[in-house]
Amino acid sequence: MSLDDWKLLAAQKAMTFVEPRMKLGLGTGSTAAKFVELLGVEVAKGLDIICVPTSEATRKQAEALGIKLTTLDEQPFLDLTVDGTDELDEELRLIKGGGGALLREKIVATASESMIVMADNSKQVDKLGAFPLPVEVVPFGLKATEKMIEMLANEAGCNGELKLRMAADGGVPFKTDGGNLIFDCHFERIEDPESLADALHIIPGVVEHGLFLGVADAAIIAGPDGVKVYEADYDIEV
Ligand code: 5RP
Repeated sequence: MSLDDWKLLAAQKAMTFVEPRMKLGLGTGSTAAKFVELLGVEVAKGLDIICVPTSEATRKQAEALGIKLTTLDEQPFLDLTVDGTDELDEELRLIKGGGGALLREKIVATASESMIVMADNSKQVDKLGAFPLPVEVVPFGLKATEKMIEMLANEAGCNGELKLRMAADGGVPFKTDGGNLIFDCHFERIEDPESLADALHIIPGVVEHGLFLGVADAAIIAGPDGVKVYEADYDIEV
């Protein structure tokens, strides 16, 4: 089986948590896209749900599938967000933002009663950080913000190169749906994610970072051992 098959298996399992009339947050990325695809099939059969997408890409996909969409302005509280992740550890702490949607993903997940992440087992790690941590920043004062991230991350025990993310064609910097830029921070190991998150939050030019701490309630992991559901022990049962 390929990674793609495992992503599909995880998305199929996530579908079992969806109930009629739920208000759902729809994640971003290739795993989330599989979930949205499956959701579209059920909607075509009559499933009644309403969703908030976490990116323009997901919005377009959901619209094309005839999934009813709303906004957090109309529905500020959601039942469940289903999303992918770039890394997760045993405590269900995540690194997200590989697809550049971390800000909307965090806003939508935080507005939800619960969040489920789906992943193939290659995303499970002992320590977060091998996947470069995305940090979304405003364009104004970019160099000053970069230096501040380096300094404060260093005080939080993290060192490594910061790379400004470039668009797929490589010619210009990548822009998020909110018009911001992303530094991918190659820290390799994040010993204390909470301290790093606190440090990043005090930098004015930082809009948000890709550490999702205490946000995911459950993780669906698919791999050679089958599909497993892990629940965080800090929150509600899903
Ligand atoms: C996008 C994300 C994605 O959830 C993350 O990058 C995982 O993507 P994929 O399912 O394609 O591996 O955080 O901002």
